[in-house]
Amino acid sequence: MVLLILVVVAAKYMDMDLRLLLPYLLPPAVLFISLYLVFSAYRRKPSTAKLPPGKTGWPVIGETWDFVRAGRSGTPEKFVNDRMSKYSTDVFRTSLLGDNLAMFCGATGNKFLFSSENKYVITWWPRPIQRILSFPEEIVSSSKDDSTILRRFLPEILRPEALKHYIPVMDSMAKDHLEADWSQNKQVRVLPLSKKYTFALACRLFMNIKDHAHVRRLENNFTLVSDGLVSVPVNFPGTTYHRAVKGGRIIREELLAIMMQRKTELASENYEEGAEGTDLLTRMLLASDENGRPLNERDIAYKVLGLLVAGHDTTSSAITMVIYYLAEYPHIYQKVLQEQKEIAMSKAPGELLNWEDVQKMNYSWSVACEVLRVSPPVSGTFREVIADISFAGFTIPKGWKAYWSVYSTHKNPKYFPDPERFDPSRFEGKGPAPYTFVPFGGGPFMCAGKEYARLEILVFLHNLVNRFKWEKVIPNEKIMYTSFAMPVKGLPVLLQPLQN
Ligand SMILES: *[C@@H]1O[C@H](CO)[C@@H](O)[C@H](O)[C@H]1NC(C)=O
Ligand SMILES: *[C@@H]1O[C@H](CO)[C@@H](O)[C@H](O)[C@H]1NC(C)=O
Repeated sequence: MVLLILVVVAAKYMDMDLRLLLPYLLPPAVLFISLYLVFSAYRRKPSTAKLPPGKTGWPVIGETWDFVRAGRSGTPEKFVNDRMSKYSTDVFRTSLLGDNLAMFCGATGNKFLFSSENKYVITWWPRPIQRILSFPEEIVSSSKDDSTILRRFLPEILRPEALKHYIPVMDSMAKDHLEADWSQNKQVRVLPLSKKYTFALACRLFMNIKDHAHVRRLENNFTLVSDGLVSVPVNFPGTTYHRAVKGGRIIREELLAIMMQRKTELASENYEEGAEGTDLLTRMLLASDENGRPLNERDIAYKVLGLLVAGHDTTSSAITMVIYYLAEYPHIYQKVLQEQKEIAMSKAPGELLNWEDVQKMNYSWSVACEVLRVSPPVSGTFREVIADISFAGFTIPKGWKAYWSVYSTHKNPKYFPDPERFDPSRFEGKGPAPYTFVPFGGGPFMCAGKEYARLEILVFLHNLVNRFKWEKVIPNEKIMYTSFAMPVKGLPVLLQPLQN
């Protein structure tokens, strides 16, 4: 690449003052070109491989800017849709963050990528993001085996039966939160409040941290981390990215300290499991791999930080967007209220929600799914290609990165007729075709937190609609899709308490 740039620069100079510079520049240019050719001949096997169509844009940054700009201007689907119609509806080539990348499209592309895990692809995060999340010495190691045990273990502890115990905790925390942070005000900004709530809940359920000041300290550090994930990755004192790396380190160290303390408690004789179930961290500490060895504590800290990142901004974005669309469509709000009111009335005074109650929230969940379809919190995830892939007549070489995007299906009229229309009934009956509605990914490594997110959104919604009606302060507040979907001003709303 550097060689190419030099050659281009050389060529430019030759244009300007050909005769003068030619004797000096021609030999190096020839040398560069021949070196480059030799170099590429060594690197690339002479094969007839047909790469996916597409263009790679600028050197190094590739098409990253177009990708980011589409999201910022509120039409993230544009990047994918334009290229699907121009190049191929199955897979096209682009370049993001300095890597060659194959973007898999449509239900077939999603299905292929989701079912190729560990065979053709592995999960991959851009290196700057790894640096924020990992312990330094672990960045260099391949992400393939650093936590395969944990990956098998996580879906286990996030499965519905294990999460049942969390529902009453979620319910009582939602009630407290609405009482303390919402009911005292006529007007609130939804995004910061839903972040505060989801973070406090994660601290409680993942680590059994209840103390408000402690939660606040962690949240402040965590905010540094999530801001840094989308910043320019320059690790120099004073930059957002530098603060994120530091914040990530503080949180991991804090997690290690909590684990030490928890181990002492577990070893003491009078340890008793709490009635509402044990927090995630403790359960990870108690678990062991197939050889009976306990899980590595640093892996646990890394994983819990990853879970906070994966779970916090995404669920707070989802909750915010549900509130956004319910303000937009009063008739849908009314139907949600009716469903939730019936559930509330079936409970004794002070009785908290349970698993059966949540199973009755069918209409509310269809609404939430429609929100996740039109404004998904996350647009897709990266993979690294570990063996040559042949797909739809093209070859995607080993070493490339791959990406799938919710937008190749969510906003595609082939799968969702009239895709701009907000219509929860799409999720009634049989619902969308397989691999078309993918806000949580799919396949064996589908987002482990899907069920957690469902419970969190529904329990919060139950409490909110039973207490308030709301109206947007900014009628057509724009939605931006940067790292996560969010209204640009954080969704200020006017609250109107309901009389019960
Ligand atoms: C981050 O955590 C540390 C240690 O708990 C604390 O001293 C610091 O104040 C926190 N940072 C912020 C911005 O709150
Ligand atoms: C709600 O959905 C469940 C399955 O998800 C179904 O068994 C139940 O009958 C549905 N309830 C209503 C009221 O539609």
